[in-house]
Amino acid sequence: MNDLRLEAGLCDLNGRHDLYGFIHKGLRKAQAEMLVRLGNEDMVTEGGRRTLNDLRRLLALAALHIKHEETFVHPHMEDAGLLERQHDHHRTTFQRLENLIRGIEGAPSALVPAHARRLYLAFGHYVAQDLLHMYEEETVAQPHLWAAMTDAQIGAVEGAIMNSVSPDNMAAFMEMIMPALTPAERAAVLAVEVQG
Ligand SMILES: [Fe+2]
Repeated sequence: MNDLRLEAGLCDLNGRHDLYGFIHKGLRKAQAEMLVRLGNEDMVTEGGRRTLNDLRRLLALAALHIKHEETFVHPHMEDAGLLERQHDHHRTTFQRLENLIRGIEGAPSALVPAHARRLYLAFGHYVAQDLLHMYEEETVAQPHLWAAMTDAQIGAVEGAIMNSVSPDNMAAFMEMIMPALTPAERAAVLAVEVQG
């Protein structure tokens, strides 16, 4: 993706329903913070081990999110091939990251820093790819959805996704999303929750 593509891709909501906006804000914030933690924590310590488990949980939610897109959103797209290839790549990366986590957990203390550096670099690479992937979804895929569907139809897709999520996972998604939103966006989410 070059800069020209970036310029051309920027588009306003113009009042349309932003299917990707909130969850992607949550993922961007959670992944950026996780990258910092992987860079500044000592993985031999209790706190470092907790970070590895938090990373596992984050990757599980990211995997669930791309499954939601494939199950509920992609059937409404004329051609979701590129996005699904990117998702396949993400899934391979999730497995690689899990292997790197296990590498840290199984390493003698003296070798932990070298393993931790591998995980830090690999996770940074994943975050970079996911940022571009989410940009593609919000600036290329979403305008296609707006052209093909009404906001009520897009809202129904969003409702179907939310109904499919277990209470535990919904709590985890909300914990990820809410601090990433503007005050007005948080108020809008709470209003929907209260109505629901
Ligand atoms: Fe996606």
